[in-house]
Amino acid sequence: MEGFADIHSHILWGVDDGAVDPEGMLAIVQMAYRNGTRFLCATPHYHPGFFGENEQKSLQVFNSLKTALQRQYPDLRLALGNELRYGPAAAEWLEKGRCRTLNESDYVLVDFSQSEAAGKIAEALRRLMNAGYRPILAHAERYEKFGRDWKSIAQLRDMGVRIQLDAASIFGGWDRHSKHMSRILLKHQVVDYIASDAHDVDHRNPDLSKAFAFVSNQYGGRFAEDIFCRNAQKEIFQRSCSI
Ligand SMILES: [Fe+2]
Repeated sequence: MEGFADIHSHILWGVDDGAVDPEGMLAIVQMAYRNGTRFLCATPHYHPGFFGENEQKSLQVFNSLKTALQRQYPDLRLALGNELRYGPAAAEWLEKGRCRTLNESDYVLVDFSQSEAAGKIAEALRRLMNAGYRPILAHAERYEKFGRDWKSIAQLRDMGVRIQLDAASIFGGWDRHSKHMSRILLKHQVVDYIASDAHDVDHRNPDLSKAFAFVSNQYGGRFAEDIFCRNAQKEIFQRSCSI
């Protein structure tokens, strides 16, 4: 295996509620690398009204991070995207480049309020698909209005939506609902990517190794490699894999 591919992280400092300074940003990246991550996508929140217009600063911080890490970690692939909080103007934000797809692909990481109605989530994702994007539902285990109805998430996946889980949710790091739902989705293999959603090096850290060991043991090694590495390497980092 070539290393974990983490498509959801808030490593860039000063652009959202993730890293607060350059030292905090480097500490997250170092922890990710030490624990086996070799592909890392920075996905600052794009949430107008909450995190402001952060597209220029995100690019500046990303470019300086990339330069700084080239010598220390030459085998770490960094990419830039956003975590888009869905709104009616979402497709327009993407078209105008105010909000970024992941690594300039067609894939868009999208999140919603935790209490958003399941039907509204489905409708929004369909709209993004109709606009030509491939939505990835961020931390799909969190949305409480799905209850334990994993089949509705499976239907979204059948429609073409990709499903991302946060690693920490598997162990109850967010709430009881998310723990339960993440395990149901894993059991039924309704998952495309597991990511860290790292914000710091404490309780929202970038370590994927513990979750990878758990998923390999419980749900199979091949499946674990797909959702921790192979899918994202192929689809987001546009790299052919021969694992
Ligand atoms: Fe996030």
